[in-house]
Amino acid sequence: MKQQYSLSHRMQGMSGNVVREILKLTQAPDIISFAGGLPSPDSFPVDELRSITAELFAQDVGFLQYGVTEGLPGLREFAARWVGDFNIQAKPENVLVLSGSQQGIDLACKALINPGDVILVEQPTYLAALQIFKTYEANVVAVAGDEAGMLPDALADAIHKYKPRLVYVIPTFQNPSGICWSLERRQALSQAAAEHDFIILEDDPYGRLRYSGAPVPAIAGVDGLRRSIYLGSFSKVIAPGLRVGYAVAPPELLQPMIIGKQGTDVHTSNLSQQIIMRYAQKGGFEQHLPRVRAQYGEKCRLMLEMLEKTFPAGSTWTKPQGGLFLWVTLDEGVSTTALLEQAIAAKVAFIPGTPFSASGGCTNCMRLNFSNASPADIEIGIERIAQVIKQSLA
Ligand SMILES: Cc1ncc(COP(=O)(O)O)c(C=O)c1O
Repeated sequence: MKQQYSLSHRMQGMSGNVVREILKLTQAPDIISFAGGLPSPDSFPVDELRSITAELFAQDVGFLQYGVTEGLPGLREFAARWVGDFNIQAKPENVLVLSGSQQGIDLACKALINPGDVILVEQPTYLAALQIFKTYEANVVAVAGDEAGMLPDALADAIHKYKPRLVYVIPTFQNPSGICWSLERRQALSQAAAEHDFIILEDDPYGRLRYSGAPVPAIAGVDGLRRSIYLGSFSKVIAPGLRVGYAVAPPELLQPMIIGKQGTDVHTSNLSQQIIMRYAQKGGFEQHLPRVRAQYGEKCRLMLEMLEKTFPAGSTWTKPQGGLFLWVTLDEGVSTTALLEQAIAAKVAFIPGTPFSASGGCTNCMRLNFSNASPADIEIGIERIAQVIKQSLA
């Protein structure tokens, strides 16, 4: 018999990450999976990372000792400079190196959220963030949006009604939708934060993966880093297994996150930080990013073309200018959760929309990842999903 343990209030009613559960189902080698959020393994700069690691072990192995919580000074300096590309004026003291940007979501909540506090999120939003918000016993409220970001009226209503403490957004090539907020919507959110005294948590793991269109400043750039915490990540631009990201924030917001991190993991792996810092110093990103952008941009175009060719009338989808995902909306009444079972039987997988919704909506939506499958598999896999949808409508 299974043992029953008495869990904390915060863990009661918590289920595992649905995407991780679905991913287990899609591991079979003959399934074409658009389910994960994985960068393509052939995008990893393996040779460069191997030689940097060999160099590190051949020299001073000080990285094997404990390090400081804030992160390696050289990496903080690099991140402070790098975010300048998104109009964020930061100093190394504004940077906290993280064990993946996801840790930043957790630390921001640790620093700012009391049980019952309201966090506004996009509809849909990143489901692992929803899971973190639940563990801090926050009251999460979804705000309606379109292809340019949260709708101004819906945002104003939600602010008025709920007096949020935090607004969590992924404004650049959002997970799961792939949309990119317009400059006007970014400015409006920053203005609202100042007027209504809330903090913006801007999550940006995909900003450097732009395939078309003109760059837009980060909200933290528009905001002058006054009421925002910006999260960046090296996961999608080198390799997620290194587990390195960074938070950029005003010192008064960064300090409680540093204290929170001391209790969580003391500091991010020195070896991973050294590898990334040296990679950056050698100009690795200047070489690597154009290659990755070309590869993913091509796959994105191919997936859009296949959707156009094969999906039934009545389906719509976002047309991302970057990132890893696009978001399909089917006829109302179609349940993508029910479709997934048939899709897996047809050897193809996606993530249904519901887990990305804080309000239980998005039942007729699905997220498709275009970075991980090969071009040939994109053609075959999209055709298979189209067949499954058409059969369900027949
Ligand atoms: C929106 C969003 N935030 C955070 C993360 C986590 O990234 P990291 O690997 O830097 O922890 C992801 C990863 O998929 C993501 O999509």
